[in-house]
Amino acid sequence: MQAPFRSLRILFVAAEMAPLVKVGGLADVVAALPQALVERGHEVRVLLPAYGGHMTRGATRLTSLGEGQASLAELRRPDLPCPVWLFESPVFAGRGHHPYNQPDGRAWPNDATAFGEFGRVAAGIAAGTLLSDWHPDIVHCHDWHAGLAPVWMGLEPTSAASVFTIHNLAFAGRFHPRVLAELGLPQSLNHPDLLEFHGDVAFIKGGLSCADEVTTVSPRYAQEILTPEFGNGFEGLLRHRQEHLTGILNGIDTRLWNPARDPLIEHAFDAADLTGKSRERLRLLRRWGVTARKDEAVLGWVGRLTRQKGADLLLEALPELLQRPLRLVVLGSGEPELKRAVAAAAARWPERFMVDSRFDESLAHGIYAGADMLAMPSRFEPCGLSQLYAMRYGTVPVTTAVGGLADTVLDADAIADAIADAIADADPLACSEATGFLMAEATAEDFVETVDRALRWFHDQHRWQALMRSAMGRQLDWSGAVRAYEQVYERALAGRSPPGVGPAAMRAP
Ligand code: GLC
Repeated sequence: MQAPFRSLRILFVAAEMAPLVKVGGLADVVAALPQALVERGHEVRVLLPAYGGHMTRGATRLTSLGEGQASLAELRRPDLPCPVWLFESPVFAGRGHHPYNQPDGRAWPNDATAFGEFGRVAAGIAAGTLLSDWHPDIVHCHDWHAGLAPVWMGLEPTSAASVFTIHNLAFAGRFHPRVLAELGLPQSLNHPDLLEFHGDVAFIKGGLSCADEVTTVSPRYAQEILTPEFGNGFEGLLRHRQEHLTGILNGIDTRLWNPARDPLIEHAFDAADLTGKSRERLRLLRRWGVTARKDEAVLGWVGRLTRQKGADLLLEALPELLQRPLRLVVLGSGEPELKRAVAAAAARWPERFMVDSRFDESLAHGIYAGADMLAMPSRFEPCGLSQLYAMRYGTVPVTTAVGGLADTVLDADAIADAIADAIADADPLACSEATGFLMAEATAEDFVETVDRALRWFHDQHRWQALMRSAMGRQLDWSGAVRAYEQVYERALAGRSPPGVGPAAMRAP
């Protein structure tokens, strides 16, 4: 592998990292991207909140913070790509296994202070006031939880540059402007060019307006968020910062997600020999005491039950779908109303619609390995990782042409048509790059229609196997993304604000 331009010290700042704490895809990226950067020769640390004692077991204390009971501890473990720095503080300590919401579903009431403080710690590390022997060149912040880090950095004399990555613009971290005073931040930040947002302050705007460079997790989403439809009210600001906005497609950890050596499945397989996959299919259904006929396709779902992911569309489509030769297997928890509706459907159609709502990593792998198709009718999708895991396991995604889904899934019918148009007698399989099925609109009707197209391919096993192999053959690792991030880091360093002056956005107009 070509050596990087130069080795950098990079501090990741995020609210989740697998396997320590995982709610969604963010956790996977905050584990896998540092791993890829370390392999390129960079020095990486990840700063995370410690939500409870289960996270700090085995950690050693680096330093105490201020006069309170807060401290910074370091965790080194063979299953972590780099040392992880845990912000231990009473503001986070009681959250346990619920980082964002209380067990009853409501957000924790002290989010603003907690994540505000978290950003301040990141800036303290960047400025060298907290740790004397490790100074980052780059502070790489993820989503609104880390949005105040670039703001605090602007108030400190630091020479580190900041990069902010949007994993999901739908979560903004909106609070009453009084939190600025509570955090000891200047009122001048309550300005439309900085944190102000419809009478509130939005922490994500700290990242969007103050970070030296902004990225998001697919090129298509980087375009979409410039429009009112996907911009969530930030499209104006993002258009203003367009020169500093880059879409970089997420990769996946192809060592962890590898059907040929996955300890969480029982029957290994690869593109050359798919026997293990049919055994995994049997094993998956056996969990519910069910067997499927050969002509019945197993349609899997792995992901949160939210409107973003189109869980309501799946439910709406269900009566139609169950007229087809299909069995559905759902793993996911999420919005209470959708959870209830999914449970009710499972009770109504046992053996056809099977659900598990506990978070279970081995069942997730079991579905990717054992299902024939993956349902992912997302309304918007910054990148999406499930479709990538599915493809790696030969499970064909049926999904919407938005965001990272449009960037990673190539529609089988569209490609077959294009090939037939171009070459009269071509064997459409020989040169196929297809990986799945895309619907233009996230609606229940389009979803059913797209599943029908997938079923037509499925019922021609020769074509289907070629499609599975083509999906499995797609390059999904981090090698391309890591180079793109290196370029963004270099741009951030070249364009960063001089120490003590703060980001351009924070200087008086
Ligand atoms: C968020 C997005 C998802 C993305 C993930 C990792 O969960 O909703 O699309 O893949 O972050 O970047």
